[in-house]
Amino acid sequence: MRNVLTHPPHLPLIAPSILAASFARMAEDCVSVLAPESGQAADLLHLDVMDGHFVPNLTLGPDLCRWLRRELPDATLDVHVMVTDPTRYIAPFRDAGADHLTFHIEPALSDYRDHAGGGGGPLGEGYNVLEVADQVHDAGMSAGLAINPPTPVEAVLDHLDPFEMILVMSVNPGFGGQKFIEPTLEKTRLISKRLRPDQRLQMDGGVAPETAQRTRDAGCDVLVAGSAIFGLEPPERPGAIALIRGELQPAQ
Ligand code: DX5
Ligand code: ZN
Repeated sequence: MRNVLTHPPHLPLIAPSILAASFARMAEDCVSVLAPESGQAADLLHLDVMDGHFVPNLTLGPDLCRWLRRELPDATLDVHVMVTDPTRYIAPFRDAGADHLTFHIEPALSDYRDHAGGGGGPLGEGYNVLEVADQVHDAGMSAGLAINPPTPVEAVLDHLDPFEMILVMSVNPGFGGQKFIEPTLEKTRLISKRLRPDQRLQMDGGVAPETAQRTRDAGCDVLVAGSAIFGLEPPERPGAIALIRGELQPAQ
């Protein structure tokens, strides 16, 4: 089993967000994008974990991750935690077979309520971003740092070094199917100039065939897409993956 985020076979990588898949037919839906009967396959699965506190929604936890790992032993499982205290979830997701864990900068900021985007609960305890990155690495996963649309890019620029991936949110986190926020592309342009070649830049939220080219042009090389892929019938999904990857042009 190889983590495609640290050993990419090609770029850009396409990461379908299972939040938009059917929770009743989860394994089938995942196979429809990772190993389609024909057409282009996606590269990894994106798992959106929400705690009902950092963002106003509840989604999935380590148990679903464990079931996916059992069903899909070779898949790269990219876990994006939108939670106030990521340290509580590192060991459970490691034990559930996750390859990668991305957590947010905002709860580590003293004025995080202003940057929470999705609402933001009472102030958490806060944490040291570099220490949490170390904990993720010590657990054997690659680490990512995420930034919300309202948070100034400067909040992450001093912390890029230890991360295998930076995630720029292009919607306020909490729900799939929202409209892409164009000004977030300015952030990815700035961050991409500061990254090493072995670091990935991920865009998450509202990525679709119509918006994907702009995100690729702004330096992103891992594109998350939920509704633009799982909103289609299974035979149509490989075509959407090819469009988002830039190997087909959207119809005018
Ligand atoms: C939003 C999540 C996204 C979302 C993407 O909080 O982090 O990963 O599921 O879904 P779409 O592509 O539908 O915007
Ligand atoms: Zn996500």
